[in-house]
Amino acid sequence: MARAAETTEGARIDWQEWIGRVYQGDCLDLMASLPGESIDLVLTDPPYGLNYNNGDLASVWEEALGHGPAGPARPIAGDGRDDWVQNLPLWMEQFARVLVKGGCCCCCCCGGGPSPIFAEMTLAMDAAMQFKQAIVWDKGGLGMGWHYRRSYEFMLVAQKPGAACKWYGDNRQSNVVRIPKIIPSAVQHPTEKPVRLMEQFILLHSRPGDLILEPFAGSGSTLEAAERLGRRWIAAEIDPMWAEKAQTRAERARLSRPLPLLSAASGTRTGRGGNGEATGSLW
Ligand SMILES: C[S@@+](CC[C@H](N)C(=O)[O-])C[C@H]1O[C@@H](n2cnc3c(N)ncnc32)[C@H](O)[C@@H]1O
Repeated sequence: MARAAETTEGARIDWQEWIGRVYQGDCLDLMASLPGESIDLVLTDPPYGLNYNNGDLASVWEEALGHGPAGPARPIAGDGRDDWVQNLPLWMEQFARVLVKGGCCCCCCCGGGPSPIFAEMTLAMDAAMQFKQAIVWDKGGLGMGWHYRRSYEFMLVAQKPGAACKWYGDNRQSNVVRIPKIIPSAVQHPTEKPVRLMEQFILLHSRPGDLILEPFAGSGSTLEAAERLGRRWIAAEIDPMWAEKAQTRAERARLSRPLPLLSAASGTRTGRGGNGEATGSLW
């Protein structure tokens, strides 16, 4: 069911209570509760509107490619074409509204065809924000499909109109990143993204302590990446099972993050240098 951007639920959510916790529900409700210009980076992996793994796509491809009998379908919420078409512009509008000036939106997007989803997502993003780049994520190896088998996806990058989006990288970053994909087991999220992929964009567009929005948490890859790099996060996930798993994963990552050292000389916290530093980010 498609949702309007002005939800009544949003008004009832105290958004600050959800920093560092996964809101189980529709991200439009959580986003409606966020004040304008409250988020430093939107880093997200939404459904692609492909009816992924609904029994007529992924599992059938797998069988056809000789990978054994089709497994049980594990559909992704919000991935039906009609809802997706209606919701996509609403999601993008909210991303644009909540980003600070100079804030950046990095959005995973499928590559190739047969449907031109990448074009639809790019145009929706550009209508709400200012499109900047389509980064090719070279996933390595051959994926599903016929004739041209899928080996890449995009990370679409846009900025809030009015200011160039913040950049904390050097001048040697390509618009192709090569990071091996995850081939999910039956207990993993069917479209789990590598933590390294999410870390890459966190490092380029945010600083420790910044607040990251991930409205489609899934199993929590973005949240783990944020925790590892000392960023704050706020997230939604509509599927109760994945919301719980994402929360647990983020908490584990938080607990395994090295504590900043207290410098005896200066009384200040110290940590690793560079933009991945864990300094002063106890939030
Ligand atoms: C592509 S998956 C994210 C996978 C994640 N990056 C990972 O590594 O596990 C998209 C997720 O968005 C969730 N979702 C779909 N519609 C939603 C909505 N309106 N609000 C919140 N979550 C939603 C789905 O349940 C799904 O887990």
